[in-house]
Amino acid sequence: MKIIENLPELRREIAAWKQAGQRVAFVPTMGNLHDGHYSLIALARQHADRVVASVFVNPTQFGPNEDFERYPRTPQADAAGLETAGCDLLWRPSVDSMYPLGLAHVVTVRVPGITEILDGAHRPGHFDGVATVVARLFNQVQPDVAVFGRKDYQQLAVIRHLVQELAFPIEIIGAPIKREADGLAMSSRNQYLSPEERALAPRIHQTLQMMCEQVDAGLALDEVQRNARAALEDIGMQVDYACILTPEFKTPQAASTPLVALIAARLGNTRLIDNLEFTPGALPQG
Ligand code: PAF
Repeated sequence: MKIIENLPELRREIAAWKQAGQRVAFVPTMGNLHDGHYSLIALARQHADRVVASVFVNPTQFGPNEDFERYPRTPQADAAGLETAGCDLLWRPSVDSMYPLGLAHVVTVRVPGITEILDGAHRPGHFDGVATVVARLFNQVQPDVAVFGRKDYQQLAVIRHLVQELAFPIEIIGAPIKREADGLAMSSRNQYLSPEERALAPRIHQTLQMMCEQVDAGLALDEVQRNARAALEDIGMQVDYACILTPEFKTPQAASTPLVALIAARLGNTRLIDNLEFTPGALPQG
């Protein structure tokens, strides 16, 4: 696996693959990679001849009081893991090369509408940072296909809007959520959890399952959402949202359309998100 840290070299390498008629898949990450990320690499591999991953802890998607400084950085382990996972090229831009005019003068991409609800409401500016860096990464790597995890359900929707709106010729694939044996969705932030918090964290997935079951049993959505919030608050979590929406982030009107249950909750200083896609009357997916 090649590790590249400057843009002209990245462009040369990818242009050579494209000239040889090879299809390029891209997996953007912020590093501190785990099996969830490696499953994205495996999925990318199924859709292309070459797989590029990026590791870049993007300062513009963190709020002033968020975890940018303490976000775990593990460059050596990431490179070794990506190589084992079958990645062909690791793109590691610097902050200066990503934002050449400096962080006070970032040309920003904003996807209106869906970025103002859920995580967008609780993390103002977060999705502007995500859209801005992903647009830059797409311009740098110029992949044919890009893979994003479905755990970041709203992020995936933001990326799909971005690609459609700015006419990036890139196919976007959503990868299934990877979970620990006890159901906790894999996340780099799980390692912030104390042993006591880690023991409670799977309750988020259990609550999502409960939400699906209660919708299935015919309970009103308001009641299901109230029950979910109460179940998490009872064990000391601070709930940002626990809701059921359509895949277009609308309030469901009909009973049997595909739905998604979404939770964001804080456990101590750690904010966790998770979701379950389901169709009432069918078993939950993911
Ligand atoms: O999901 C992530 O890890 C990040 O938000 C992404 C897409 C790599 C952009 O920084």
